[in-house]
Order: sequence, then C-alpha cells, then structure tokens
Amino acid sequence: MAVKPLREGGPAARIAVIAGDGIGQEVTPESIKVIHAAMDSHSGSARRQIEFVELDWGADKFLREGITLPAGAVEMLANEFDAILFGALGDPRVPSNQHAAEILLGLRFKLDLFVNARPVELFHDRLTPLRDRTTNDIRFMVFRENTEGLYVGVGGFFKKDTPDEIAVQEDVNSRKGVERIIRHAFEYARQNKLKRVCMSDKSNAMTFAHDLWQRVFKQVRQEYPEIESRHLYIDTLAMEVVRDPRQFDVIVTCNLFGDIISDLGAQLAGGLGLAPSGNIHPGRTSLFEPVHGSAPNIAGKGIANPLGSILTSAMMLDFLGWTAEGNALRTAVRAALQENFVTPDLGGEKKTVEVGDWIAKRVGSR
Ligand SMILES: NC(=O)c1ccc[n+]([C@@H]2O[C@H](COP(=O)([O-])OP(=O)(O)OC[C@H]3O[C@@H](n4cnc5c(N)ncnc54)[C@H](O)[C@@H]3O)[C@@H](O)[C@H]2O)c1
Repeated sequence: MAVKPLREGGPAARIAVIAGDGIGQEVTPESIKVIHAAMDSHSGSARRQIEFVELDWGADKFLREGITLPAGAVEMLANEFDAILFGALGDPRVPSNQHAAEILLGLRFKLDLFVNARPVELFHDRLTPLRDRTTNDIRFMVFRENTEGLYVGVGGFFKKDTPDEIAVQEDVNSRKGVERIIRHAFEYARQNKLKRVCMSDKSNAMTFAHDLWQRVFKQVRQEYPEIESRHLYIDTLAMEVVRDPRQFDVIVTCNLFGDIISDLGAQLAGGLGLAPSGNIHPGRTSLFEPVHGSAPNIAGKGIANPLGSILTSAMMLDFLGWTAEGNALRTAVRAALQENFVTPDLGGEKKTVEVGDWIAKRVGSR
C-alpha cells in the first residue's frame, strides 16, 4: 500500500485508489499523474492537497487470500476517505466474477451510492456514429438509480434444473429510493441551469413499480416549475436519443434502464474508452469509475485508452468542489482528441502512458 504524504497548505482531500484488474492497473496511474499535474499548477494558498492511498483489492488478492472486500473496508472508506478512484474489476482466472461483484456492487450498496451519474458528451465530431451530429448536439446527463430495482438480488428458483423450472427476479422500488434520485436529477438541472429533465420508465407495462415512479415524478416536479419536465417510455427514449439527442439535458431512470440507456449514450459519444461515471451519495464518500471493464484482450499491452479514467477523475474533482481543476482535465482531453493524440481504439498509435503524459503536461501548463 503506497501512501503519498500530504503537502503543506490549502484544503485537502483523501482518495482511496482501487485500480483493480487488467487495464484498471494501466489507466488509473495515468489519472493520478494528471490529477497531480492539476494540483501542482496552483501555487501559494490556492494550492490543493490530495492524498492517494492505494488498495490492492482485486483478482490477485482474491486468488491469493480469498478476500474480496476486507473486513471493516466499508467503514474505513466511509470514515477516512472523501472519494474512491476505481479502475476495473474482472479477470479470466475468476470466471464467477465473485470478487468483482462483491467489491463493486458491495460498495455501491453498502455506501448507499444511490446516484449513478453517466455524462454523455461528444468531445469531437468524428467520434459519434450518428451522421451529421456535432459536439453541439450530444451533451446530456443520465442519472441511473443505483441501489434498487432489479439489481438487488431478490428472487429465487423453483424446480431448478428441471424442465418445469421457474426463475423469479424481483424489481424493488421504494418511495424513498425513487424520490431521492428524481429529486437529484432536478437539483442537478437547477444548479447547472439546464432546462429539461426527462424521466423514463415502462409504466404502461410495469403497472406497480413504475406507477410509483410516475406518482413520485409528478409530485417532485412541482417543486421545479422553471424546469421543463417530460416523461418517455424507455423504448421511446431509446429511439429518440438516437434520432435527435439535442432534445435531452438530464435523463433520470431506474437501475436496469439506466444501465442500458447510458451505454447507448456512451457509444454516441465515442465509445467505452471515453466514458466516465460516478457512483455518488452527495456529501458522503463516493466512487468514481470509467465505464469500461478490465479488457483482458488488451491488458498488459500498454495500449488502453486512459481518457475514460481521466474524465472520471474530472468528475471526482467536481465532486470534491474543485471544478476549475475538473474543467482543466476535460479541456486537455478535448485537446488530445483534437490533435488525434490517442490510443489505437480511437484510431491513433499512442501508448497509454504517452497519452497520460501529454494530458498531464497540458494540464500542468494552463
Ligand atoms: N466496472 C467494472 O469494473 C466492469 C465493467 C464492465 C466489465 N467488467 C469486467 O471486465 C471484464 C471484461 O469485460 P468486457 O470485455 O465485456 O468489457 P470491457 O469494457 O473490458 O471491454 C470491451 C471491449 O472494449 C475494449 N476496451 C474497453 N476499455 C477500453 C479502453 N480503455 N481502451 C481501449 N479499449 C478498451 C476492450 O478491449 C474490449 O474489446 C469482465 O470480467 C467484466 O465482467 C468490469
């Protein structure tokens, strides 16, 4: 566990780093390098302090010691850290993916990280598969409910492994859970002076669970009269996001639909190598991770795209209240894409470390 000491002066943040498996180990150090460059570009009293504590949780530890989330881990993270910078989990040597599920889902649920924030922003026209769309057309935020729905693991089998087998998976929606994510979406719109919030469900078919979403949405939106609120069924939303993404500023939806629609959004904005996300509970320790997985097919080759992780770090800096630094990271990523200083997945030939160095230099010289 490498602990980087705090520097003198200025406000401080303490970050737990779980680089994890595969390319998580390659992209996360680039993020840390870039964050340090952003901090170092300040001088005097404006200088930020940030401390990174690396945690070796992942497949190697699981295979070696049988440990996924160590005892007391959740309390330690909640009490001693402001945020968690996460890489990726997933290793072919653990086909069950047990360690990944226990660590990532465990942290999402146990830290009550009810907001999954997935910004969709096109940084360069050439990166979208949509014809004639530009950077002006694709910019919206997806808020996915992150602690309930079909992902809570309530259900079971009846007559398992027989021809009469029945499998049941319950969709769990609490009034509190639905209300807090919808309210978060409206608050985000208000704070960022965005005009439109779209809530998406399937209340025509899911007549109990999504009836609750309907009722709560109608109630909460009354508190935000300046914001144009709209409802679309999820199937219609999927079509509309592709047909004309300009219609959307903020989308809020349940766990399953948010998982799918945010991946669709990621593709509209250049794919997995560029997509960031935050698992957030406002005011509490929150976890920031690139959307991509551990990519075992390219792990160890030094060619993973670090930009998704760097944009994730920008979200983390925003969360810490350091928006100038977050914006500096986004500006540098935009510049790298402009100059085509990119890894092979985006048609370039640069290495992970070269891209990280380029961004760090750019951020450091602002
Ligand atoms: N949050 C997470 O930790 C997370 C998310 C998704 C998948 N996974 C896990 O990751 C493992 C691999 O899953 P997968 O292959 O379905 O998804 P993946 O995201 O790892 O890879 C999908 C494809 O995208 C490419 N890719 C992904 N990120 C890239 C990057 N930064 N730069 C360049 N190319 C990139 C990969 O090479 C691969 O071809 C599995 O064990 C899976 O369970 C983890």
